[in-house]
Amino acid sequence: MDKTEHLSLSNTIKDVHEKLRKSLHLTQDPNRVWQEHVREEDLRKKYSQAMMKLATEVWGGKDCRIEWSYKTCTDFFYHGGLEKFLSREKKIKEFSITEEGEKNGVSDDGMQINNYLNMNRQLKLLDIGSCYNPFSKFSEFSCVAIDLTPATEDVLPCDFLQAEINKSSNVEDISDSNLEFFEESFDVVVMSLVLEYLPAAEQRAIFCFKAWQLLHQNGLCIIITPDSKSLHHNAPMMKSWKTALEKIGFKRIKYEKLTHLHCMAFCKVSRISSVDISSCKSLSDLLYIPQDFKSYVNDDSPIERSEEESQSICEQFLELPNRD
Ligand SMILES: C[S@@+](CC[C@H](N)C(=O)[O-])C[C@H]1O[C@@H](n2cnc3c(N)ncnc32)[C@H](O)[C@@H]1O
Repeated sequence: MDKTEHLSLSNTIKDVHEKLRKSLHLTQDPNRVWQEHVREEDLRKKYSQAMMKLATEVWGGKDCRIEWSYKTCTDFFYHGGLEKFLSREKKIKEFSITEEGEKNGVSDDGMQINNYLNMNRQLKLLDIGSCYNPFSKFSEFSCVAIDLTPATEDVLPCDFLQAEINKSSNVEDISDSNLEFFEESFDVVVMSLVLEYLPAAEQRAIFCFKAWQLLHQNGLCIIITPDSKSLHHNAPMMKSWKTALEKIGFKRIKYEKLTHLHCMAFCKVSRISSVDISSCKSLSDLLYIPQDFKSYVNDDSPIERSEEESQSICEQFLELPNRD
């Protein structure tokens, strides 16, 4: 692929993110911004084709986020990671007073209920904002790939912001025509490069809360977010995300800063959350991204370009060329 095409694809991605954030800044109304975006079908299709092309043709073998997620899940469920985690949690619990254990969301229930020891079945994985179903190549996963704007036919169309999560049921009926979600029905939920697509922090909180609802006890939530800065530059932000996820009922079991990415894995440790879908807004201050603080004026050009903003999401994680 030549540099001009590469640049044009990366600009397509940048422009969509920028447009959403600018609309939110100007309207302060996340629902309105999102409804308008849902109507922009052509723009979304252009984005998803650009994203798939970048991921499969430009980055090619550099799909380190997918490999990182795969290794994290298989180490955890098949190679003793969960056992180690549970025994560490047990020790922590023994050394802390009961009250503190409850405060941290590590209940007896959470310690003892364990579907996963001696696992030999496939892991049921939900890939939210999948785009082109990159996890389908792994035989260890049985994938349900969803996207607002699927790039390939094996990805089911779904706006996860609007998705209803039903009470647990033995009947799981997931097909092209009838996509239904049930509490505690997945082993793994992946949100790779998707939270920062959402312009409002409360929308990110809704994604994380629903991911928690969908996971089995001890299931894993994988979150990948771009950042080309050094390990420490955005450390407060990552700490803040960790706090938000803990409030929901997760515990972080792995964190790694790769060159352009933060990679995180959270285990569902509690069946009771301190938030619910209507109070996700209370996590907004915690689930921020640097771009949330950019200022815009009501014309076509941004009035201020922060250091973070000058590197687009794509450039941040894959050094795509900048048009500026
Ligand atoms: C940057 S792409 C990431 C694709 C893939 N996960 C990866 O890591 O390569 C973000 C994707 O999130 C999808 N997305 C954004 N909001 C969504 C929503 N509310 N529900 C489902 N998918 C959404 C977009 O359509 C887009 O395909």
